Amino acid sequence: MDNQRISNPENTSEDQYGNGLRPRMLGEVIGQNQLRENLGILIQAAEQREEALDHVLFYGPPGLGKTTLAHVLANEIHANIRVTAGPAIERAGDLAAILTNLNGHDILFIDEIHRLGKAVEEVLYPAMEDYALDIVIGKGPSARSIRLKLPHFTVVGATTRLALLSAPLRARFGAVYRVDYYDQEALKQIIKRAADIVGVTTDEDGVAEIARRSRGTPRVALRLLRRVRDFAEVRADGHLTRDVALEALNLMSIDSLGLDDIDRMVLLTIIQKYNGGPVGLSTIAASISEEADTIMDVVEPYLMQLGFLGRTAQGRVATRKAYDHLKIPYQEKPSQPKLIE
Ligand SMILES: Nc1ncnc2c1ncn2[C@@H]1O[C@H](COP(=O)(O)OP(=O)(O)OP(=O)(O)O)[C@@H](O)[C@H]1O
Ligand SMILES: [Mg+2]
Repeated sequence: MDNQRISNPENTSEDQYGNGLRPRMLGEVIGQNQLRENLGILIQAAEQREEALDHVLFYGPPGLGKTTLAHVLANEIHANIRVTAGPAIERAGDLAAILTNLNGHDILFIDEIHRLGKAVEEVLYPAMEDYALDIVIGKGPSARSIRLKLPHFTVVGATTRLALLSAPLRARFGAVYRVDYYDQEALKQIIKRAADIVGVTTDEDGVAEIARRSRGTPRVALRLLRRVRDFAEVRADGHLTRDVALEALNLMSIDSLGLDDIDRMVLLTIIQKYNGGPVGLSTIAASISEEADTIMDVVEPYLMQLGFLGRTAQGRVATRKAYDHLKIPYQEKPSQPKLIE
């Protein structure tokens, strides 16, 4: 992934800066009202029963707050959080070492949990279900298995690809939540809060303009805010007005809906090279020299959310709305392939 991409919702080192802006408690989390309410109930119920939290799985596109919410859960229940990621746990023994070091009610946060290896997953199953760790001692016919008891801990998993999670793993989560794109109002609040924290003065319209182009994603909103702030300080008097925001965002080639060059390239490839589709994801990826994973995780979900892109059994299609947005004349096709989802 091209980390220079300004509207890249994936994590980059720049987020170190953004970490100070992370909401710490549930009450500080903006937007996601339903999810927030559900988490509140989950927390309170566990507290009343003095039990560990049920295992929680967050899924959804990058940059919407899955990691933030995992930390919020830990803060709310005053528990330690141990942070790891699917690809970081290479062998079953690595996971066993982590598990045996946990205390009761601790949270084990596993990011990119869909990337856990099979052997590692098999250690996780009894750990999640029975708080037990099966260890094999010895080799060959004399090998025997002993079962260690683990403290009651909580796994919080995060994934951008729910479909890649194995069914048995998914089934072990008591609570599975989709983290969705944010509406404009929530994004405006997030931008406003961040601007106040870093000490930038703003106009309502300037904030709204950034919100409109943030692809529903807090991480993108915060990144755009940083760049617009730079622009305001270098080219204007530091105050963030609508004009300043517009000029800065246009200079970054981010259009009125938050689409950037890569989004437009994906749509233009489907429309101009493949007559609107259907065309396979790997073909699109190869045509624009971008990774298929990036297109699938980052580009497609937002284009689908806008109703610009559809998935069919034969591949991706561009919708009439996409043509209209790109100001390309649309020709009705004799037969439209059936959209899935
Ligand atoms: N509800 C929110 N209110 C305010 N800021 C938020 C909110 N959700 C996320 N953020 C901010 O957005 C940024 C990205 O959030 P986070 O890292 O939690 O996303 P993520 O879903 O874990 O992404 P990824 O899938 O890439 O790991 C953080 O810097 C955080 O401060
Ligand atoms: Mg994350």
